[in-house]
Amino acid sequence: MSGEWEEAELPVGYRLEFRETVESTNDEAREAGRAGVEAGWVLVAERQAAGRGRRGAVWVCPAGEGLAFSVLLRPEEGKALWPRLSLAVGLAVAEALERFGLSAEVKWPNDIWVGGRKICGILVEAGEDFVVAGIGINVGVREFPGVLDQSATSMAIERGEAPPRVAVLAAVLERLQVWAPCIGGRFDELLRGLRERCALTGKRVRMNAGGVVLSGEVAGIGDGGELLLRDASGLRKIVQADEVRVLP
Ligand code: BTN
Repeated sequence: MSGEWEEAELPVGYRLEFRETVESTNDEAREAGRAGVEAGWVLVAERQAAGRGRRGAVWVCPAGEGLAFSVLLRPEEGKALWPRLSLAVGLAVAEALERFGLSAEVKWPNDIWVGGRKICGILVEAGEDFVVAGIGINVGVREFPGVLDQSATSMAIERGEAPPRVAVLAAVLERLQVWAPCIGGRFDELLRGLRERCALTGKRVRMNAGGVVLSGEVAGIGDGGELLLRDASGLRKIVQADEVRVLP
């Protein structure tokens, strides 16, 4: 393992593996899930040749500047509750970033924003009896190419310097250990944390929900974790949507 990661002190229950290059840490973790590897396996990669984002997007991050990893989970809660893990991971990352002095918001369902710019992307994928939480955090990135220059940020940009990536990893895993089990019984606590950090509440937005383009004002997050959108027809509960755009 490379020096930086050898020293990693992770919360009890996690096992870290580091690889210099993979196609996608999520693909590797899914493979591990299918092969019966125990929950708590964490794969960090310096480079992803085919890093994946939501909705088929690519996820690119320069080696040494990003933190790309996937965590294998085997939730005890029923499968119907697993989609809530997307929210749990988002809250875990937001709280972890706060430990480094950043004021992080969750852009429903789980992009993490600082100062209105994206600092972290999350891709949660379920298998037959496991879930993979894939997380990409812009830690040390100083410059973003093209349009990302206007829409992305990093811990280095926001804080003036990048924290050690192992410390960021450990903080996320620690918070994940708190929030992942809350998708069942203590979901109200998870919702409280999310509502406090919701980047969209009160904003006018446009989105594509199941092929229908909707626009309106976000009223908040509902009791099931859905986005509440107020438009001409009343209050809609949005369970899934493509890119939610904030309107000027
Ligand atoms: C998004 O914002 O669309 C989600 C991006 C998720 C990127 C992470 S990086 C680690 C893990 N491996 C992947 O291939 N994707 C996720």
